[in-house]
Amino acid sequence: MTTEAKTSFTPRVLSGMQPTGNLHLGNYLGAMVNWVKMQATHETLYCVVDLHAITQAISVWGGPNELRRAIRDVTAAYLACGLDPKKSAIFNQSQIAEHSELAWVFNCVARIGWLDRMTQFKEKAGKDKEKASVGLYDYPVLMAADILIYKATSVPVGDDQKQHLELTRDIAQKFNIDFADSIREQGFGDAYFPLPDPMISGPATRVMSLRDGTKKMSKSDPSDLSRINLTDSAEDIAKKIRKAKTDAEGLPTEATGLKGRPEAENLVGIYAALDGNSVEGVLKQYGGGQFSTFKNALADLAVAKLAPIAGEMNRYIADPGYIEGVLKDGANRARAIAAPVMADVRKIMGFV
Ligand code: TRP
Repeated sequence: MTTEAKTSFTPRVLSGMQPTGNLHLGNYLGAMVNWVKMQATHETLYCVVDLHAITQAISVWGGPNELRRAIRDVTAAYLACGLDPKKSAIFNQSQIAEHSELAWVFNCVARIGWLDRMTQFKEKAGKDKEKASVGLYDYPVLMAADILIYKATSVPVGDDQKQHLELTRDIAQKFNIDFADSIREQGFGDAYFPLPDPMISGPATRVMSLRDGTKKMSKSDPSDLSRINLTDSAEDIAKKIRKAKTDAEGLPTEATGLKGRPEAENLVGIYAALDGNSVEGVLKQYGGGQFSTFKNALADLAVAKLAPIAGEMNRYIADPGYIEGVLKDGANRARAIAAPVMADVRKIMGFV
């Protein structure tokens, strides 16, 4: 039996995004829509993970002015997409020192062998891993601290983060076992940390590049035509959909007809997700028709759904005072959870 089974934990959702580059349709459909929905059913904390943003070369994250801008922009995107500061704690990681403090303790719990297996580090470090920052290597340990400093039980993430969630569970489990006696002696029961569950957004919400249906839509793709940014104007959104790569065939009437046609599958998937419909439902409406007709309908739908978000975002971006107020409030709420947890951890560890 795991230690988890005996102690019950209050359900709590935490997730975060890095303030780097611009948020796009993939972030919106893959994460934000879900985060917004969870506000109605869960206690929710949404973090702008600015400490994670500095793990790559300065030329990648852009330096202090760019960081300041990006933290405000991502917060504006959170609000524009429908995160509600009255329902969720919306805050940036660097305001809560407890994330970093717990990360240090976890550095001494996690094993080098565990981190050596992280595929995202290998991808991001590339061939010259000697030149990668220690922070990039340690990134998943800080992520575990982000989650466990709130004793979060559910973490909505993309499938690329699944391995980091497994590491988080391993760290929580080892902490609970290594300090089991102290945890009990200090009156915290059989386990101090929950083993958080990943809520992985499935392939249905994975948005691919508009230029290559086999690659994920990405903020680092050199072609701006490959993605729809959340700040794009109505004209740009429509243009990008119309220019999206497709094959020579029309739209099939059945979902199986999308097999081996990644670009068509992606565009139908985007339509379905934006419309709250299924792929089958979309094909019932547009299947058998010309691709151009469908693309026009998709352009209209995307503009109707996304242009208002861009408008809201720009309104928030124009008011940095408001954004900073939201982050400060959110940080106060987050700290009220994080500070007692860190105090418990210090006690459990034997720090006097
Ligand atoms: N690593 C996550 C990503 O790149 C971002 C992140 C950092 C995160 N800390 C987190 C996500 C805690 C969820 C919970 O997507």
